[in-house]
Amino acid sequence: MRKMWKALSLLLVVALAAVVFAGCNNSGGKVSVGIVLPTKDEPRWVQDEKRFKDALKGTKYSTEILFSQGSSAKEKENVQTLINKGIKVLIICPQDGAAAASAVEAAKKEGITVISYDRLITNTDAVDYYVTFDSVAVGAAQAQYLVDHAKGSGEPLYLYAGAASDNNAFLFFQGAWKVLQPKIADGTFKIANSSEAVALQDKADLSRDELSKIIGQVTTNWDPNEAKNKAQTHLTAAGADMKGDVAILAPNDGTARSIADVFGSDSAVTSFVVTGQDAEKASIQYIIDGKQSMTVFKDVRTLVKDAMGMAINILDDKKPETTGSYNNGKVDVKAKQTDVIVVDKDNVKKELIDSGYYKADDFTGIQ
Ligand code: GAL
Repeated sequence: MRKMWKALSLLLVVALAAVVFAGCNNSGGKVSVGIVLPTKDEPRWVQDEKRFKDALKGTKYSTEILFSQGSSAKEKENVQTLINKGIKVLIICPQDGAAAASAVEAAKKEGITVISYDRLITNTDAVDYYVTFDSVAVGAAQAQYLVDHAKGSGEPLYLYAGAASDNNAFLFFQGAWKVLQPKIADGTFKIANSSEAVALQDKADLSRDELSKIIGQVTTNWDPNEAKNKAQTHLTAAGADMKGDVAILAPNDGTARSIADVFGSDSAVTSFVVTGQDAEKASIQYIIDGKQSMTVFKDVRTLVKDAMGMAINILDDKKPETTGSYNNGKVDVKAKQTDVIVVDKDNVKKELIDSGYYKADDFTGIQ
């Protein structure tokens, strides 16, 4: 008798555990919105993960966020995992814009609506919507900051770019070139580290191929180490006429800090103005400490709100709101675009603390 009670109560405990486990862990459950981000190795995308989780807290929508760890193969696997979980909407920021086409085509075949997030997926008609920031304005703002802080004429200009696999890298550089080219032509700046850019310095509007040539030569692949190595190579090759007071176009914060450290350790460089992007916490501290000049703040809370807003409209069979479109080489993708904000030491508090994006005690020396 006693043995029978013991077996029965054990059975009861196991059954109970199974029910509880199924409730909280979505791994077995159906997911309505799948979210795929490029990598956890960059603060930018960890930021987006946090903002998605904040936005989804307490909502009825079942979502799952997966990272592709810098691999298009892993990205495709992630998309398949989410397809198998029955998603209706896929929000995806591609590791490589062109390589992601096959992953979203697989989703499209299952009748899933695809939203390209921050970066555009190119050369496929399997993308329904695109939410992003004004990436051309990012580059233009970085360049304008260099122009506004230029010292005299003939100032050496060092150019760096993002990864050529990222369509945004072309939009950033296109926006920067539009502002810089006239200032190269009028002698304010002289290009210090790119023969491809020198060859095109009299041309205001560059084709995709011409942009490719320059980006191919000065790309950082969004990798701070690659940026550091390139900066060291460029400074080693540079003569005294390419040092002194210099201007540096760095594409984002991660690469800006490593480039700034290299230029900051070269005694022949008397001063430098260096740009950035993403308002990463580490770079905000660099800006407060005067080691990085500016960053372009992209309020990820807005991008997340736009992406989830679209997803919820789609789940509710409503037409998502869009404000324009981007041609991805195959189709015009309906898009929603958000403006960007220039941040330097004069408005860190207003734009990043008073707005609630960061807390004051995340930093030291904030005015
Ligand atoms: C870009 C993104 C930037 C930057 C970069 C590196 O596509 O728009 O914010 O972080 O990727 O991941």
